[in-house]
Amino acid sequence: FDTTNRDKFRPLYHHTPLYGWMNDANGLVYKDGEYHLYFQHNPYGSMWGNMHWGHSVSKDLVHWEHLDPAIARDTLGHIFSGSAIVDKNNSAGYGENTIIAFYTSHRNVPGGQSQVQSMAYSTDNGRTYTKYEQNPVLTPFDGLQNFRDPKVFWYEPEQKWIMIVSADKNMRFYSSANLKQWEYMSEFGEGFGPQPNQFECPDFIQLPVDGDRSKMKWVMIVNINPGFVYGGSGTMYFVGDFDGHRFVCDTKPEVVKWLDWGKDHYATVCFSNTDSRIIAVPWMSNWQYANYTPIQQFRSANALPRELSLYTGEDKQLYLSAAPVKETENLRKDSKKLDDFTVNGEKRFETLFENNDGAFELELQLTSAGKEAGFELLNSLGEKVRIYLDAAEGRVVMDRAESGIVDFGKKVKPHDLDTEESYARYKEVTVNYKNDFALGTWAPINTAKGHKVQVFVDNGSVELFVDGGRIAMTNLVFPNEPYNSLRFYSEGGEMKISDFTIYKLGL
Ligand code: FRU
Repeated sequence: FDTTNRDKFRPLYHHTPLYGWMNDANGLVYKDGEYHLYFQHNPYGSMWGNMHWGHSVSKDLVHWEHLDPAIARDTLGHIFSGSAIVDKNNSAGYGENTIIAFYTSHRNVPGGQSQVQSMAYSTDNGRTYTKYEQNPVLTPFDGLQNFRDPKVFWYEPEQKWIMIVSADKNMRFYSSANLKQWEYMSEFGEGFGPQPNQFECPDFIQLPVDGDRSKMKWVMIVNINPGFVYGGSGTMYFVGDFDGHRFVCDTKPEVVKWLDWGKDHYATVCFSNTDSRIIAVPWMSNWQYANYTPIQQFRSANALPRELSLYTGEDKQLYLSAAPVKETENLRKDSKKLDDFTVNGEKRFETLFENNDGAFELELQLTSAGKEAGFELLNSLGEKVRIYLDAAEGRVVMDRAESGIVDFGKKVKPHDLDTEESYARYKEVTVNYKNDFALGTWAPINTAKGHKVQVFVDNGSVELFVDGGRIAMTNLVFPNEPYNSLRFYSEGGEMKISDFTIYKLGL
């Protein structure tokens, strides 16, 4: 394929496939100085179908090298999402430190679909995989049709492997000594979270509370579709305890905690084998419109990798923060430090950079006594993204209603190379994308306090991080020209901006 970029909205520093469709991050594993990012991939076209595991590697989580697809579709079906581990003790018998991948084999069967878990191993540092000849390694005991996205991890206290699989409205826990035979232990999820929903892509991580390693808690990350607070797909989590067999959630089923408050953050899972660092990689889209974004040659990017930690909130509950990994500093090319200022009314910064290609980061401290105070990212066409604190409602808002192209809903022709089931899904799709896409998203915040604000802008996206990731908000945008000016404004009181730096970003 000719992979020279022909798309107006190819991100400049976010990971995308060179060609073809991408959804979930898969098999995230760190080994010998390399981060492996596998991903749900259609190598033959830019809509969902023909699922393979695409593959990229990085030494620093921001510079990615594109490699050949690592696991190809076979007679058991599509290669759906899953995880990968480093088999340190040679549990599976393919040698010490072999990378072993677990994925769902998905295919259509008369009257429905079959989803079973398969395994493949790599003895060449994740470049190529050999599928286990006796796949699948796990089938549902009750014929469940939605049974997918296996996450495997080592449980040190009992020296055993554990697999979590999303099983419709639950997550099922299994254990194994050899990674090939799996025994059912328990399940968790039914009744938890917004209803109706279906869980996908679970992850299960252990984190210290407020950095204190003598107080460890387990966190189950689950992705749900539909059920997200702003429609479509989103990522939530549950904090609790795990005894090696069963997960018990600290909070009541109706308590919902979102990992990211933007509309384009899904299928987020974490790297294995990174010691105490927990690094998550989101897919930056929403199933409501992922197939129809105004892009042709490839489709979808990953949001910036985020480092997760657990903190006690003002209401004494435990929450995850998702901060951009410190390696994002490797993207900073040029910087402008600005003087502190106050605004009561408005203040503009006309040209952020000469030859601005639309990739930059803002870092500032914002304190407001106003009713509504914040800033707009603007281009010369008047397209804008507004980020502001709303004191009356106690929230931080990102408004993309006038961000650029917001109405890309068309009747979409199914992709020629697609399979029958995806053909059926795409047939006659008519959705009001104007309403699904052109939204503001918001998160609750204490507006009486000052906040650290970080905004990462790329060609096609805006990611907001408040207070080191205590609020994360990721949204796609399609401006007709890069945003290159800023308008700060405050209504009904004064806003103070300090510690303000603008960075030009690039690879
Ligand atoms: C989530 C998901 C997974 C599935 C994959 C298929 O986005 O639906 O549950 O494994 O995508 O591409």
